[in-house]
Amino acid sequence: MGSVTTSVARAGCEWLQYDYDAALIPQDRPPSFTMWRYRGLLPVPDGPVRYPLPIGGTPLLPAPALRQAVGMPQLWIKDETRNPTASNKDRATALVIEDGLRRGVDTITTASTGNAAVATSFGAAAAGLRAVIFVSADCQREKLGLMTQAGAWVFQVRAGYAAAVDLSRGAARTFGWLDRNTGANPYTIEAKKTVAFEVWEQLGRRVPDAMVVPVGDGPTLVALDKGFAELVSCGLAERRPRLIGVQAERCQPLVRAWLGEPAGPAELDPAATAADGIAVLRPAIGDAVLDAVRQSGGGMVAVTERALLSAVETLAGRAGVGAEPAGAAALAGLDRAIERGLVDRSEAVVLLVTGREVKAFGAPTDRARIAVVERLDEVEQALAGDCSG
Ligand SMILES: Cc1ncc(COP(=O)(O)O)c(C=O)c1O
Repeated sequence: MGSVTTSVARAGCEWLQYDYDAALIPQDRPPSFTMWRYRGLLPVPDGPVRYPLPIGGTPLLPAPALRQAVGMPQLWIKDETRNPTASNKDRATALVIEDGLRRGVDTITTASTGNAAVATSFGAAAAGLRAVIFVSADCQREKLGLMTQAGAWVFQVRAGYAAAVDLSRGAARTFGWLDRNTGANPYTIEAKKTVAFEVWEQLGRRVPDAMVVPVGDGPTLVALDKGFAELVSCGLAERRPRLIGVQAERCQPLVRAWLGEPAGPAELDPAATAADGIAVLRPAIGDAVLDAVRQSGGGMVAVTERALLSAVETLAGRAGVGAEPAGAAALAGLDRAIERGLVDRSEAVVLLVTGREVKAFGAPTDRARIAVVERLDEVEQALAGDCSG
């Protein structure tokens, strides 16, 4: 069992702490592994892992052609698109469901900009749970198709993502469902911090100088910081890397807050960017993001739509990595980070590529499993005849 000793509040999030010790991270060098390799630093009791899909253990790619193109001999790509549903959201889903299976829950809920919903739908299907998903009305159709294909119930909320979060959290409280909402469930951060452990191991037990990371609600970046801080607490590393958070110019609440400047309306328009995964108006743990970036000595940068799309092309053409715009945001932000002096071309820098565009093959979207709602009683009514939960 990961020896969780305390849970403290930090910059608006719940933070689990352990009895830190170097022995909590294994020393062997297996050719392949999963996220559960780090269960010494995860809240997972002893005994076999029940979650059935393989999660984590994603490659750290040297990307030689990309290195040459950008003139950075120590540039790396941490390719999180290799997870089962092609995004880093699979990690958080796995740990939350693992906990739910042990507690005997039958239904999991989350709100999502898309990828967490797909990960939750597939993860729940594999684990035999019912998934009840809340998304904004403009959620990508391909992603909706994947959710219903995996048998999830999907509720679209016209008032947008923040309202979808409120409904999902309210449903979890009211109906006793497992709450996977990012930032609300501390296990989402626990799971995503394993990326830091992997990068450190894959670099030969070294911490990179900097990591560039897309930021939506914030857990991906905050978790990385926690993971590296835990390596320091275990006596395995001497420092944390600088963290550079990237948002789209068209939805950049945290970049503006970082710069201490008010955002104009054109900078707070989630529907106006192709990077839907990071298009979050009120990030769930924004204060914790700013705190982590500050403490790491990093910064926040915003990128244009053109830079996002060009990063998608460059990742495909120079690194052989397929990414969606939000997933490619780290590469899009690299130039700006260099311009601002946040990163030097000679340094060891890791770009976190968080997600890939996905296609729903097979059955078309099952409209019978999708409803537009505003209130919880409408959710209850829509699910009334469903006996799967
Ligand atoms: C592809 C992709 N990248 C990055 C993010 C942002 O992650 P976080 O909400 O943890 O900041 C998301 C969130 O949905 C995403 O889908």
